[in-house]
Amino acid sequence: MPHPEVAETVADLRAKVRAWRREGLSVAMVPTMGALHDGHVSLMKIALEKAERCVVSIFVNPTQFAPTEDLDKYPRQLASDLDRLAEAGVHLAFTPSASEMYPQDFAAKVSIGGPSAGLETDFRPQFFDGVATVVTKLFLQTAPDCAVFGEKDYQQLCVVRQLCRDLDIPVDIIGAPTVRDAHGLAMSSRNAYLDEAGLAVARKLNRILRDAATAIARHGDADSETVKARRALQQIGFDGVDYVAARESQTLREWQAGRSGRLLAAVWLGKTRLIDNVEIPA
Ligand code: PAJ
Repeated sequence: MPHPEVAETVADLRAKVRAWRREGLSVAMVPTMGALHDGHVSLMKIALEKAERCVVSIFVNPTQFAPTEDLDKYPRQLASDLDRLAEAGVHLAFTPSASEMYPQDFAAKVSIGGPSAGLETDFRPQFFDGVATVVTKLFLQTAPDCAVFGEKDYQQLCVVRQLCRDLDIPVDIIGAPTVRDAHGLAMSSRNAYLDEAGLAVARKLNRILRDAATAIARHGDADSETVKARRALQQIGFDGVDYVAARESQTLREWQAGRSGRLLAAVWLGKTRLIDNVEIPA
């Protein structure tokens, strides 16, 4: 299968998108960090339904990693990623280098408040500034009509929506459901770090969250259920629990009984950090 077209520079990306625009074609974007799996591919399918052309960016964004995190270890596999893009029918891959995105003396930072408060930010304080900065750049470089983000990274999705709303970035943000394996484990590039034993524990995360979300919806006591869920996660073999928290689904403020909500969690297995979230039914 032929690879999609590849743009490595912003100038090349812009020239290719401009040519589509001259033909009157609509453009969707899917930002990724590569190591593509079925979760990423599901976003591409949605993008291809929404627009006539689809750009996927593959860029392991250094500004969203802390010095202690897995930037160097993060899986990089461009050739097989390009195969997956070809299979999915993606038109263009944008694969910039770090210096193309962050030339020497780069000094900008985009910082979004609101839904970025707490949760991931309590444990990865640099994370959403890095995400907001790179997503802003990708949107200005590509100028797509819409972009698809996964609910897997639920807080990120909320932050990106807020970013576009607050800065009047005219990109329609589409949220896509989390793709899971047959055991309920959310697909993630970081699952590749897990051995068999780790995988067996990881596969229990979603069930515990779903049970807790059902109990919260039933009797409205988020505090006691999140404590119980945290204990269950530790007992079942997770090495650490950063948070289990019930939040309102749009603002990510504290969840109020009777409102639609989201139960979000981040856990550790050895050196691997996993996140997941489920709906709290109204
Ligand atoms: P990455 O982790 O590669 O994820 C790219 C997109 O795929 C995100 O929108 C993420 O939510 C989505 N995704 C990942 N796993 C998924 C799954 N199992 N089901 C559905 N969607 C899934 O998120 C990032 O990269 C970066 O932070 C990025 C936005 C590209 C900025 O650098």
